[in-house]
Amino acid sequence: MDFFDKMIIPGSGATLELLKYLLSLALIIFSVYAGVLLTSSLLSFIFKIIASRKNNIVYFKLSKDYIDLITPNKTMALGLGIVPFFSIILIYIQILNKFNNDIILLFFISLCAFFIGQVFIHIYKLSLNQVNPDSGKISTNSLNIISAIIGIAFLLFSLRLFFGLVNFTTDSNNWNFTGSIAKILFSAQAIIKFIQFITISCAITSVAFIVKYFYWDKLEENEQQENSDYAKKINSWLALGFAFIQPLILLIDFYTIPDNLINNNSYFYGMLSFVALLIFMHLAYAGIRYNKYQLTSYAFYLILLSFTFVILKDQSELSLSSREQILTLADGYDKLELALLEKEGKMAPQINGGEIYKAKCTACHKFDQKLVGPPHKEVMLKYLNNKEGMVKFILNPVKVNPEYPEMPNQGLKPKEAEAIVEFMFKEYGDKLK
Ligand code: HEC
Repeated sequence: MDFFDKMIIPGSGATLELLKYLLSLALIIFSVYAGVLLTSSLLSFIFKIIASRKNNIVYFKLSKDYIDLITPNKTMALGLGIVPFFSIILIYIQILNKFNNDIILLFFISLCAFFIGQVFIHIYKLSLNQVNPDSGKISTNSLNIISAIIGIAFLLFSLRLFFGLVNFTTDSNNWNFTGSIAKILFSAQAIIKFIQFITISCAITSVAFIVKYFYWDKLEENEQQENSDYAKKINSWLALGFAFIQPLILLIDFYTIPDNLINNNSYFYGMLSFVALLIFMHLAYAGIRYNKYQLTSYAFYLILLSFTFVILKDQSELSLSSREQILTLADGYDKLELALLEKEGKMAPQINGGEIYKAKCTACHKFDQKLVGPPHKEVMLKYLNNKEGMVKFILNPVKVNPEYPEMPNQGLKPKEAEAIVEFMFKEYGDKLK
């Protein structure tokens, strides 16, 4: 489809790197919002059903409190839901760039479903306000039930597809995908990721409930004891229970990541997520046990942090596997820029390999002495007949020799790396013999 190609804005390497950070940010905002929206709607609906069955106002009150948690106004639905979602798609269009429009199309389908879901949840909320519990009977009107079911079904479908796609695109080997959508939805990774999303969202929703109604609104002081006791009890259980299983899910997640995507950053963020979770459980438990809701509010930030680290962990895997694509795109951009300059009759800026070498490499390398990195004499002998291999290494350093630390990526453009290698062999080539 040409339509999506028109949305590609050529970007330099730096722009594309920036886009990846923006992607993480938008994903964090959207995931938290969408997760709380889905789980609070689900919990609200469940308690509404129980309320009408048992004709019990405590449950009904709970149901209303859940739905009021995150759906106060349309600005929020737009700002935290639709806008980040749309930004995420736009960024994926830039990163995937001509690779695969099916994936982008599926993202748009998911966006539409999300919007419809939001609308129906809103209708559900309005219809819940119509119910008058003081009349002695908690009625169930059909609009109430139907809107909830449609809303939740659309949200579930949308988010299942969305996180399936995000997970699928993490591995650049998948970008040429033309297969069936089942591969996206039902891989082991996709399923465990969705379970992780739902359970951690449940925990977040429950803590948010306690913080909002007990810490901010001071529910206890102006509510009937019975209402608040039950709300506190059920949410404490949900929060701690769902948080408790997170480490296990994290472990399974690590177990299912393809080997080529695991990197130091994924372990790092995985650990941070785990630590945040541990502190969360302590604070949340203490807060609930001793009715110190300020502690619970700290716990709330920690579980958000833990979720953030989970997302950053996944993004570090995308970052690793999209590195090559980003270099290709950046190279394409540089060519475009050169062509433009030429057209305007200007000289293209000359790339000076020697200067870059002195500025960027001599801090760690000398020609014939070991510094932070190996002496370049050794290295050049190794690559004597494989200069391309050397350019490749410089653009994307990997661990080679256990005696040295890993060389940090120098953020060079392909042209620059070529110029450096050319310079090195011209300058030092004779001394190799
Ligand atoms: C911060 C320190 C540092 C900087 C800056 C640095 N390097 Fe390195 N370089 C290393 C280390 C450490 C190694 C050894 C890595 C290993 O064996 O895993 C290395 C290894 C190499 C190798 C050998 C790879 C191999 O296959 O054995 C080449 C080639 C190289 N560097 C080129 C460069 C060039 C060109 C620059 C400048 C653009 C540069 N390095 C800048 C630290 C650095």
